[in-house]
Amino acid sequence: MPAGAFGAACCDALLEAAARFERPSVGLATGATPVALYAELRERAAAGRVDIRSWRPFAIDEYVCAREDPCANRAFFERHWATIPGAPPVVQFELEVASLKAEAQRFHELVAAAGGLAVAVLGIGMNGHLAFNEPGSGRESRTRVVALSPGSRLSATRCFNEAPTHGLTLGLAELLGASHLVLLANGAAKAEVVARAFEQRVGNDCPASFVREHPAAVVVLDEDAAAALLG
Ligand code: PGA
Repeated sequence: MPAGAFGAACCDALLEAAARFERPSVGLATGATPVALYAELRERAAAGRVDIRSWRPFAIDEYVCAREDPCANRAFFERHWATIPGAPPVVQFELEVASLKAEAQRFHELVAAAGGLAVAVLGIGMNGHLAFNEPGSGRESRTRVVALSPGSRLSATRCFNEAPTHGLTLGLAELLGASHLVLLANGAAKAEVVARAFEQRVGNDCPASFVREHPAAVVVLDEDAAAALLG
């Protein structure tokens, strides 16, 4: 599936979920996967086909790194989100704080004050993580500081010279508590973890498997990412 078709399918799923709310609070993923989604949203907004000015976007995670680091998720949103016509600024984790623990609590309260997430846009990590909820994270986990797994640190080296050791993340409680989930995966490298998440047992060794228990989850896969699912 060309990137454009994947982006369009992701965009349709997100818009359909968001359209149910007047001012949707939307948790936004970063990484390679959602780039095509944001490009499609940019194209539709520029053409006047969608209007996202009423949305309340929230980052779902951040690396513990310098605020101005070009590899921080904050910088990703500058490139891929802030360039969408009409896109409201993303509520971000602050990094230059005295206490990351207090920052996690502040972020939890911001999401709670928005009434929780209306929609969470999620990628799936090669190890089955959702945001930085690494394997072992419980369903009830809250927004917190986490040690990044070796796999997440390896992925981070796609950008960072030296991968951060920690991240800030919305917990599985906040993410799975969203009214709607839109989980995205593309590319052959994700085929195995997609099959694990959707065909093996649900449990915290593969946090993405919890998506199966959500009553309103849409999963958008390209053919490569879906290749290992039983037909
Ligand atoms: P990716 O990351 O989109 O860069 O593959 C997904 C994730 O780790 O959630």
